[in-house]
Amino acid sequence: SPITTPDISTCVPSKEGFNTNDSARSNECCPPAMSTTPKDFVFPKDTTIRVRPAAHRASAEYVAKYKAAIQAMRDLPDEHPHSFVQQAKIHCAYCNGGYSQIASGFPDKTLQIHNSWLFFPFHRWYLYFYERILGKLIDDPTFALPYWNWDVPSGMGVPAFFEEDGKKNPAFDAFRNVNHVSAAAIVDLDYNGSDSGATCLQQISTNLGAMYKQMVSNAADPLSFFGGEFRAGDDPYGNGDPSIGSIEAGCHTAVHRWVGNPRMLNNEDMGNFYSAGYDPLFYVHHANVDRMWKVWKDLGIPGHSEPTDPDWLNASYVFYDENEELVRVYNKDCVQIENLKYDFEVSPLPWFSSRP
Ligand code: C2O
Repeated sequence: SPITTPDISTCVPSKEGFNTNDSARSNECCPPAMSTTPKDFVFPKDTTIRVRPAAHRASAEYVAKYKAAIQAMRDLPDEHPHSFVQQAKIHCAYCNGGYSQIASGFPDKTLQIHNSWLFFPFHRWYLYFYERILGKLIDDPTFALPYWNWDVPSGMGVPAFFEEDGKKNPAFDAFRNVNHVSAAAIVDLDYNGSDSGATCLQQISTNLGAMYKQMVSNAADPLSFFGGEFRAGDDPYGNGDPSIGSIEAGCHTAVHRWVGNPRMLNNEDMGNFYSAGYDPLFYVHHANVDRMWKVWKDLGIPGHSEPTDPDWLNASYVFYDENEELVRVYNKDCVQIENLKYDFEVSPLPWFSSRP
């Protein structure tokens, strides 16, 4: 049977996957218990589509709007379900042992939405609500998250507006690897903890080759791309399990580790699940991960389609929506992004012709 996310009142402090004795962020990651019975999700009735722009090409006007939205989120009291801190805690609760599989009948099994076929749909829903909350905070129903376009050469550095002006900038985060984020460095999409020493041109070409592998040669069927089956009663896979989807195991994790601060015990913020959501770059990174799902499907290659197993389609999670209502959402309802009223600005796919 499918994974069913429990009643949020069963949430406990997170303690898996990081060192809790010397953690820079709290391990109290449970959501506010304003309501415990989730409502059914209804598709948005928006009349316009939110078009997510590539961050490195975003206009000054857009950047100002994005920063105003993040600032408004930071200004909310921490207990508010839309606050910056609560949004970050969602990730920590779902990824570091905050929930068990009690609602699926397995109270002693941990719920983990990484390292399996839950990865893409969970994060799609997470960003969907986050984006709508930001739009609501600035009263802009067309607001869309930027995506960090790390799969094109001109987008491979951290988008400049995340680093400018230091602490005055709501998109800035002090817990990043300064050697990587401040100096227009090119991201290493194969990063495994040590710098490759490659020149810019070499790094760009390695990155394009990695993208080709993760989007084409190692992603020929649904489970290779989405990740291994994960059903009620299963033990979560560990990092490094070969059944993790190609993008999740590859560029997704590499970018997390590359951005996180190696001088901190848990590589806060981006380098650990429990803290990643405290860096605004997390959502911008994941917007591109989410875009990869759409791009992979649109490549038009036979086999590039979502799993059809009912245990994938009917897996569900709960989130507070932009109206502070607790809603239950299913994987099957996030497959068509048209129904969720957002899309991505088109960007070239140079890796498609970069077969290594
Ligand atoms: Cu939930 Cu990028 O990890």
